[in-house]
Amino acid sequence: MRLNLNNANLKISAGLKKQFPADRIPQVAFSGRSNVGKSSLINALLNRKSLARVSGEPGKTITINFYDIDGKVYFVDLPGYGYARRTKAEQEKWSALTDGFFTSNQNIDSVKLVCQLIDSRTGPTKDDLSMIDYLDQTGMPFILVATKYDKLNATEKKKFREILSAEPLCAGRPCVCCSAKSGEGKDELWARIAESCGL
Ligand code: GTP
Ligand code: MG
Repeated sequence: MRLNLNNANLKISAGLKKQFPADRIPQVAFSGRSNVGKSSLINALLNRKSLARVSGEPGKTITINFYDIDGKVYFVDLPGYGYARRTKAEQEKWSALTDGFFTSNQNIDSVKLVCQLIDSRTGPTKDDLSMIDYLDQTGMPFILVATKYDKLNATEKKKFREILSAEPLCAGRPCVCCSAKSGEGKDELWARIAESCGL
């Protein structure tokens, strides 16, 4: 892969669908509940500490952040869901923006992969399963990514795998187990991204 990861920057923090980049370079989106570790994973993949903002106040910013990686791929940090303290108006903004991205995005063909994040400590939540079901219905290519894997011991890792296999919406799907802290799973995830985007 010939990507200069030092050449990565925030292209736009989009609060409206019309602000999504129109150029046709491949996009990889990161979806998941608030606090699951989307921004941390993006930083880890790019070997950066704080390019993607790791939230002090989770769930508050409802924007879709597009990171331009060396002009060859966009990483798309989607706003998290499942944040209990959101107002109704904030919740509606989340829905409109997310739907704008997945179902009425003129550039949807550029979205080559969605990484659906799941916290490995909890397994898929009800909201995660709704999101997976939604993604399934849109026909988007997506994989599961387990986050915070460093927090699990061997027994808990085994248990997590069992929970995934027992869940019909997850069983049989590729799942890359990652830690933004230790870097575990990064190479495997990059390989999947490179393959999907033809990098
Ligand atoms: P929102 O932007 O609010 O939707 O959250 P997010 O999904 O971007 O999560 P974020 O990356 O901000 O991480 C949330 C918290 O989890 C932070 O305190 C991170 O330091 C922590 N965290 C994220 N990934 C990992 C990981 O792999 N291991 C550990 N130990 N902590 C992590
Ligand atoms: Mg974030």
